[in-house]
Amino acid sequence: MKIAVSGKGGVGKTTVSAFLIKTLAERGKQVLAIDADPSPHLARVLGFPGADRIRPIADMRELLQERSERDGPFYRLNPKVSDLPERFMLKEGNIKLMVLGAIREGGAGCACSDNVVLKALLNTLFLGPDEDIVLDMEAGVEHLGRGTIKSVDHLLIVVQPYLGSLETAMKIKTLAADLKLADIVVVANNVKDQEDITYIEAHLGMVPAGVFYASNRVRAAERSSQPIFESDPGLRDSASQILERLSGVAKQ
Ligand SMILES: Nc1ncnc2c1ncn2[C@@H]1O[C@H](COP(=O)(O)OP(=O)(O)OP(=O)(O)O)[C@@H](O)[C@H]1O
Ligand SMILES: [Mg+2]
Repeated sequence: MKIAVSGKGGVGKTTVSAFLIKTLAERGKQVLAIDADPSPHLARVLGFPGADRIRPIADMRELLQERSERDGPFYRLNPKVSDLPERFMLKEGNIKLMVLGAIREGGAGCACSDNVVLKALLNTLFLGPDEDIVLDMEAGVEHLGRGTIKSVDHLLIVVQPYLGSLETAMKIKTLAADLKLADIVVVANNVKDQEDITYIEAHLGMVPAGVFYASNRVRAAERSSQPIFESDPGLRDSASQILERLSGVAKQ
């Protein structure tokens, strides 16, 4: 499965991504985790040391250009995850972590060309049955207009029970429908009670594929720089529920 995780800034994209990545890995899947946030945090949230050593995917541009010469190591027809050069990733267990772009200085321009590289990668990468990709996306809607994720199997839109996040979700949904994405689902995060869920459902007209409640354990883990996945079994169950829903769709 190729899964992209989107939503308004700060709604919990990285948190949800981390729980999905670790759950897949626990199930024995080989997971390629891609942090597409221009200010990347996924490594820290996953508890990966040495994130500052990862060379950004955007630097693979030259490798992509070798495609036209037909002898590049990467762009044979249907490149596999195992063909990706190791210098662009951190590996821990069965998780490979890649980071899209270098951190940009103020006024350094947009991440458009980085997204061209990511789009090519997502489009052409061939996944074996035990391989999955989880893409932790940049906040908001702008990047959706670039069509970067048009080849993903599932788009998750993370929302919280407040209006701004739901408005952004509706925009994402519309843009994703334009891209004709196969499956678009909502994940409710930071939920306190049933009223929050009812509010989200009424506003979006969609039942969330999974609910992540507001977790004091995650908050405490985050504040003490501990990996969040180990902190809260309840949210691990939520991640499992989402994955059942996604693989159910994949089998149809
Ligand atoms: N269910 C939850 N319970 C408790 N804290 C949470 C929960 N979800 C997210 N948080 C906390 O909220 C903050 C923002 O979450 P996160 O970084 O996952 O959001 P994001 O959408 O990836 O943000 P950005 O748009 O900046 O990339 C983090 O400090 C995270 O630990
Ligand atoms: Mg994030």
